[in-house]
Amino acid sequence: MYTTGVTPPQGVWWKPAHKSEKVWFTISFVWCMVLFAMMPLWHLRGGQNPTGIRARVDPVDYVARVQQFVSDYGTGETESGIPVVAPPPGAEVYLLAAQYQWTPVLQLQEGAEYTLHLSSLDVNHGFNLYPFNVNFQVVPGYDYGLRVTPTEAGDYRIVCNEFCGVGHHLMVGKVLVTPAAAGAAEAASSDPEHVETGGDQ
Ligand code: CUA
Repeated sequence: MYTTGVTPPQGVWWKPAHKSEKVWFTISFVWCMVLFAMMPLWHLRGGQNPTGIRARVDPVDYVARVQQFVSDYGTGETESGIPVVAPPPGAEVYLLAAQYQWTPVLQLQEGAEYTLHLSSLDVNHGFNLYPFNVNFQVVPGYDYGLRVTPTEAGDYRIVCNEFCGVGHHLMVGKVLVTPAAAGAAEAASSDPEHVETGGDQ
């Protein structure tokens, strides 16, 4: 008979878990359950997710919507020729990502709600509203709508956070949020000569 010299253990060879091991099992199981519950809770209550407004769109058609948006509410151009648009509260706002530029520069009013549409002309880009933790994928062929209400006046940057080619690091756009009271007056008298573009930085 073939023998290896290795014999199976006899009788009850294992020892019951030590008390500290049981404690760790309990803690990790409870934590797993917390994380499991957070997935649906965060989806419903976290306020971090897309609104569900989305549709397929041909990039060429999307560019046409952006151009229409610019001609409806445009107030001028930046020094580097990017249109500046000041849509009224409640407007559908169209932002185009393309290698390596965000078009147009948006001028929004504090406290007003807008539907911000995002799409790309060419490849995947990433919308990050600096300095906030707001991040969305911008994908060619899809129009994503987000309901946004700027809560603080200021001068913000849109940073591309999806590597999209050699000029990725130059792809910086701009959002200006005017204070609630001054919003209407300023939108009417905005001076495009003084709007800088982030793209030059
Ligand atoms: Cu666009 Cu990186």
